[in-house]
Amino acid sequence: MSARRRVGVLVSGRGSNLQALIDAAQMPNYPAEIVLVISNVPEVQGLIRAEQAGIPTRTINHRDYPSRETFEAALNDALKQSRVELLCNAGFMRLLTESFVSCWLDRHLNIHPSLLPAFKGLDTHARVLAAGARITGCTVHFVRAAMDDGPIIAQAAVPVLTGDTEAILAARVLTAEHRLYPHALRLVASGEAQVRGEFVDGMPKGPAEPALFSPPLRGSS
Ligand code: GAR
Repeated sequence: MSARRRVGVLVSGRGSNLQALIDAAQMPNYPAEIVLVISNVPEVQGLIRAEQAGIPTRTINHRDYPSRETFEAALNDALKQSRVELLCNAGFMRLLTESFVSCWLDRHLNIHPSLLPAFKGLDTHARVLAAGARITGCTVHFVRAAMDDGPIIAQAAVPVLTGDTEAILAARVLTAEHRLYPHALRLVASGEAQVRGEFVDGMPKGPAEPALFSPPLRGSS
């Protein structure tokens, strides 16, 4: 296999998506390896997960820097030192400047717990429930300067069910996130998914998966 792409992961908290990427990268044929995990929040679970997997970690606390630019310069220094080629946000909750985003253009991934471009931003699941949506999901996309915006790499659909609370729906979507993020990173690291303009090449040619209907179709309909 050709050399694995060197990946840095940015976290701010629990790091369950980081864990999914760590687990995937331990597979022998996975085209990426995680070489650095950076948290902007000290002592979070994401850092502990990385340490347990033997991955180098850094805490770069945005509160220790006088501006976004100086904080991002520290991020870039650390990423450069570790020769990071691809960057993954995994629950990283800081907006990044246009200058940082352009440094990592088309090499920087984010996961968001909705079917983008719907429900960008915070409190996604509460807003999905309030809107009465029947299907939600998650998206991995290339990062652009606007929040939760950029060319879509992969999505997974998840039904909204009777009796769902925000927590129940979040857990169902999170299970899909843990499958989607390693899949999307594989597509990018292997070169199968590439940006053309504002879209990503590499749409499946088939066979088509059956569509997710919610409510489900009945009999002859
Ligand atoms: C995940 O649900 C991720 O999609 C979301 O934060 C959570 C982080 O969980 N990200 C965003 O909302 C980005 N806009 P994790 O720390 O357990 O991976």
